[in-house]
Amino acid sequence: MGIRKIVKHPDPVLREKSVTVKKFNQNLHKLLDDMAETMYHANGVGLAAPQVGILKRVFVVDVGDGLVEFINPEIVAKEGEQLGPEGCLSIPGLMGDVLRAKKVKMKAQDRHGNEFTIEGEDFFARAMQHELDHLNGVLFIDLAVRTYTEPEEREKNE
Ligand code: NI
Repeated sequence: MGIRKIVKHPDPVLREKSVTVKKFNQNLHKLLDDMAETMYHANGVGLAAPQVGILKRVFVVDVGDGLVEFINPEIVAKEGEQLGPEGCLSIPGLMGDVLRAKKVKMKAQDRHGNEFTIEGEDFFARAMQHELDHLNGVLFIDLAVRTYTEPEEREKNE
């Protein structure tokens, strides 16, 4: 396990499209372990592989209900809308209000290559959509209806 360096905007690697994972080997497992450790260390709720400089279709999310690892994720269904605040470990200190689907159903593979589907709503759905965007070089600042500095109270709590 190891904490990796988080790539910060405007590093061009954040604008690349990530490639499909084909090998579910030890390298992938190490990447996933490191990404989870890096995310928790930074008090994040999600982290995508491009954010540690790896252009593979991989992200991890933990909104408080446990870690979920997504490899080669795709949205298979979405429903409703939610407008709410979002931040990103690659854009520290900035928040933005982003319109997202309220519920999403996603298909992905686990670290062994087994396919699974998962449904989420509200904050979990938002996190999945945000992380999926990273795999296509899209950042929340591209989508935000407005951006603002993270409130000071929030920084103090971290
Ligand atoms: Ni992000």
